[in-house]
Amino acid sequence: MAGWYLAPMEEVTGDLFRVAIAKHFGGVDRYFTPFLSPVTGVAFKTRQGREIDPSHNAGLPVVPQVLTDNADAAAHMFGVLADLGYSEVNLNFGCPSGTVVKKGRGSGFLRDVDGMKRFFDRIFSAELPVTVSVKTRIGFADAAEWPAILAVYNQYPLSELIVHARVREDWYGNRPNTEAIAYALAEAKAPLVYNGDVTSAAGARELMRRYPGLSGVMIGRGAVTNPGIFRELQGGEAMTAAELRAFHDDLYGMYCARYGAKDTLFKMKELWGYLGDRYPDAPRAKKQIHKCRTEAEYLAAASELLGEA
Ligand SMILES: Cc1cc2nc3c(=O)[nH]c(=O)nc-3n(C[C@H](O)[C@H](O)[C@H](O)COP(=O)(O)O)c2cc1C
Repeated sequence: MAGWYLAPMEEVTGDLFRVAIAKHFGGVDRYFTPFLSPVTGVAFKTRQGREIDPSHNAGLPVVPQVLTDNADAAAHMFGVLADLGYSEVNLNFGCPSGTVVKKGRGSGFLRDVDGMKRFFDRIFSAELPVTVSVKTRIGFADAAEWPAILAVYNQYPLSELIVHARVREDWYGNRPNTEAIAYALAEAKAPLVYNGDVTSAAGARELMRRYPGLSGVMIGRGAVTNPGIFRELQGGEAMTAAELRAFHDDLYGMYCARYGAKDTLFKMKELWGYLGDRYPDAPRAKKQIHKCRTEAEYLAAASELLGEA
């Protein structure tokens, strides 16, 4: 059976968002935290602590994601996360951000397959307290890099390989490269999960029909636009407008309680970057959301789009 996974999205799919999806819709087989960057010997930053606090993830199948090029720091995190009760940790080989890439991390690591081998050799030289999965792009500048990168992953007992079928230089543009997926299905040793541009339950099911060897599909932006997509994928009803309103109000309330009104506006604007795709015919209200400076302005614009409760 296919697994339907919620993708990690920094600033968007944090613990409160995950809790709201679980409460209102469910259907997610695995939730991934936005990336955590270990700082060796230093306690987690507040945001990171919140993401992995077991009480914030109670009852949810959550996989913490770690971004590092330092095997000792990764090993340290595995121990900390295992002690907190996590059984799987995901490693990020996809982040395209300039600051991350400059440090040779995320998709920047893909330029150095020898370095990747040293990193994994060191990680897998010890007995691990967690299983390790990888989320990766298919190259840095060119998909021709993919076979060599996949050959590295194939040397290690990864529990899963989640492939965002773009190279770093694509950022989020161009189309996901389906040839690279077909190649990975033929060659990858680890169970393969597809990621990239899935925007509907029908689209996710079509992928599974087209590539029956996939063990799952991970959905990011499409799940922020439609937080009910996972319930639908599990055979449930499509999300209604009233349900989206209730989800929004609950999340908004949780954000206000934790972050205060000003930071909540920032977070809601991020969310509307995706939720707004539902309302192609309401450019004025979407602009209002983008511009709003007060809670009252925000709620008026959001109500116009979502409908009154
Ligand atoms: C705002 C934003 C933040 C993201 N943060 C992360 C992250 O922390 N870790 C990660 O592996 N991928 C991150 N991604 C990439 C997504 O997980 C996913 O691979 C990408 O959006 C493609 O899938 P989608 O088309 O279903 O959204 C982020 C993407 C966006 C748009």
